[in-house]
Amino acid sequence: MPLAIEVRGLTKQYASVTAVAGIDFSVAPGTVFAFLGPNGAGKTTTTEILEGLRRATTGAVRVLGLDPWTEGTALHRRIGVIPQDFRFFEKITPKEAVEYYAALFGTRPDPADLLRRVELPDKSGARFETLSGGQKQKLGLALSLVNNPEICFLDEPTTGLDPHARRAIWEVIRGLKREGRTVFLTTHYLEEAELLADRVAIIHHGKIIASGTPGEIIAAHGRPERIRVRAAPSLADYLRSHGAGPVSAADGYVEVELADSHDALRILTAVQASGIPWDDFSTLRDHLEDVFVRMVGQMDEGALREGGAA
Ligand SMILES: Nc1ncnc2c1ncn2[C@@H]1O[C@H](COP(=O)(O)OP(=O)(O)O)[C@@H](O)[C@H]1O
Ligand SMILES: [Mg+2]
Repeated sequence: MPLAIEVRGLTKQYASVTAVAGIDFSVAPGTVFAFLGPNGAGKTTTTEILEGLRRATTGAVRVLGLDPWTEGTALHRRIGVIPQDFRFFEKITPKEAVEYYAALFGTRPDPADLLRRVELPDKSGARFETLSGGQKQKLGLALSLVNNPEICFLDEPTTGLDPHARRAIWEVIRGLKREGRTVFLTTHYLEEAELLADRVAIIHHGKIIASGTPGEIIAAHGRPERIRVRAAPSLADYLRSHGAGPVSAADGYVEVELADSHDALRILTAVQASGIPWDDFSTLRDHLEDVFVRMVGQMDEGALREGGAA
């Protein structure tokens, strides 16, 4: 099957700012792709290039096989977009907004049906200005679906929303995938990407620093799984002298890295055999967020050292 999105050697320069510094990625149809990174990383710039709203400085971009800049008119019929900080006419109701968008696209969706799909049915009589942040984003989602798009571009759809509203948006995103649509999502919430995305790319200062499935990234860049118990530091010495892997003791806890999941039983047996009292047992594994914080931290430290040496 042809790729939904293909990006090769993309750069974007704004005067002296390099917003996107040569990135490559692709998105298979029917999958959720999360583009992750801190503020200013280059997410919106990339997204808007894919949508045909900004022009690439260099590189090749194909969306549904089309060049977004030169074939934007054909592309716009087939994609749905919620811009970052989506806003709309203050006095318009959700139903009117859907009808307005439908008129622009020349489509005839049932507004009630579309609003129900984003769980916004009760609000169809309210004006935009009276909607909560989550309801506004849901309306944005509904509008992005007016033309029955093959790809939905959602630029930070959950930023600033409360946990309940965020979960409601996640459900809609899962629904889009079930319907066979491709979703291109930007977010700076790493746990959101880990939950929703088939594949992610982490962008930092305009460069992709890691990409793959969340599991692949964690396996490649995360720390090994650990066992942790609350115990005196003497337990760490005992485990070290009894052949455990890397052991550390801090804040009243002892942590042991596992060679693999099967190592757990051996370590626990040694903990018990030590005769040292322990409780509050847990296993720890890295999440995308742990990996991201460490990778970005290491890169920024490296940049500081280079800057300091110069
Ligand atoms: N229109 C613009 N003109 C000049 N600089 C811009 C413009 N848009 C974005 N930038 C800069 O490009 C970088 C990337 O911005 P952006 O793509 O909005 O990142 P993100 O969406 O990840 O927060 C930032 O340094 C930002 O200040
Ligand atoms: Mg942005």
